[in-house]
Amino acid sequence: MTRVAIVTGGASGIGGAISRRLAADGAAVAVFDINGEAAAAAAAEICAEGGKAAGFAVDVADRTAVETGVAQVGSELGSPSILVNCAGITVSGPFLELDIDTWNRVLATNLTSAFHCCQVVLPEMVAAGWGRIVNISSSSTHSGVPGMAAYVSSKSGMIGLTKVLALEFGRSGITVNTIPPGFIETPMMRGALDNGVFDLDRQVANTPVGRIGRPEDIAATCAFLTSEDAGYITGQVIGVNGGRNT
Ligand code: NAI
Repeated sequence: MTRVAIVTGGASGIGGAISRRLAADGAAVAVFDINGEAAAAAAAEICAEGGKAAGFAVDVADRTAVETGVAQVGSELGSPSILVNCAGITVSGPFLELDIDTWNRVLATNLTSAFHCCQVVLPEMVAAGWGRIVNISSSSTHSGVPGMAAYVSSKSGMIGLTKVLALEFGRSGITVNTIPPGFIETPMMRGALDNGVFDLDRQVANTPVGRIGRPEDIAATCAFLTSEDAGYITGQVIGVNGGRNT
């Protein structure tokens, strides 16, 4: 049976690797990204490799766009039973200079987006009696990061949302887990390194396995959590961080 998976932020970095991995494992993947061209290109790459995928231009902070996108997935690929909430942005700067518009934008993109996507997709999972949701949070919630109040707050909210949904939907055959990635080589991380938010050598020195993470490290864990075999795992925070936050 072909499962239909929605991966938000699925055109780049971690979301891109998750899209490719779920497709390689046999899912039909709906790549949701605010960058519609990149979503189409990511889906085309999967199709060229023999997988099944379609790209959708969706701003996941916009409820109407999410509803429209999920309806399109239903007619083009089928009813979604896997949802990976991976879209995210970072903004950094001193807390006292953080304006309310920026705070709201980060919360809307990183956390309210998951509220929208879960609320729109869950009724279909409940009707099917099976579902898998993975929320991509962040290892920054373990430690805090100076200058990233909005980001870390949004990602901490993802962990709370995960725990509540796991309790509410466990009896419907739906699992909800969160992966907080730690220090993964992606365009977002490259920007943070270039801006001096993080120092590569120091980060690697502080990582027990001695390397920066790869998007495929997160994708492998996500593939397991969305598989049939992971049906007894729910409400969990599964750190994939090279041993940094044990
Ligand atoms: P990335 O910047 O490479 O990819 C993020 C994707 O999300 C982009 O394709 C972007 O267009 C999309 N996106 C942004 N806003 C959107 C919106 N409103 N609607 C739909 N799509 C939107 O970043 P990366 O590093 O792959 O991050 C993926 C997730 O992992 C993010 O939620 C990030 O916070 C999280 N994360 C990443 C870590 C890392 O070390 N790279 C560490 C911890 C968490």
